[in-house]
Amino acid sequence: MTGNQDQLRPNLYIVGFMGTGKSAVGRAIAQRLDYEYIDSDNAIEKSEGRSIREIFESDGESVFRDLEKRFVEEGHPSLGCVVSSGGGLISQPGMLAAIQSKGPVFCLLASAETIFERVRGNKKRPLLNVEDPMARIRELLKEREPIYKNAGTEVLTDGRSISDIASHIVRIYRTESRSWGAR
Ligand code: S3P
Repeated sequence: MTGNQDQLRPNLYIVGFMGTGKSAVGRAIAQRLDYEYIDSDNAIEKSEGRSIREIFESDGESVFRDLEKRFVEEGHPSLGCVVSSGGGLISQPGMLAAIQSKGPVFCLLASAETIFERVRGNKKRPLLNVEDPMARIRELLKEREPIYKNAGTEVLTDGRSISDIASHIVRIYRTESRSWGAR
């Protein structure tokens, strides 16, 4: 696609804490819009040839954050994609502004209790692989709240189906994307 048509297909970004449903919602939206679906964690795992857990274990969090930065700056197409980001991606300076310049951003929100229920038993998240995951969730939520609150359109997910959340986001995206190229 070229010219004006491209301007109508800015990327759609989904951010939010771990366990807020970013991947499931992102996939549902991509299907509805007929966009490519990209998950930043999966893209990083693919380019590195190892899991997020392995990256954290062998190189530490700061190397993972650099990989997220590289993903945002040069690791994904700039049009026609639904991108779900890892929960901490926008906590790094400059990352939120970088994605906001590429397309509308939606931030999924959930209570600490809902998040805990959704992530419990899943060992794939190094930051929650601690003795008291609930305390860690509360701590990280508090720390990141200011950045999530300013990220973009906030979407509450507690008690809502994936399909309902996806429809809600697609409706807003369609309106926002109409004026995106004219900004
Ligand atoms: C992280 C969230 C994870 C993953 C990594 C760090 C975070 O992604 O990027 O474990 O800092 O919140 P999900 O939000 O998809 O679980």
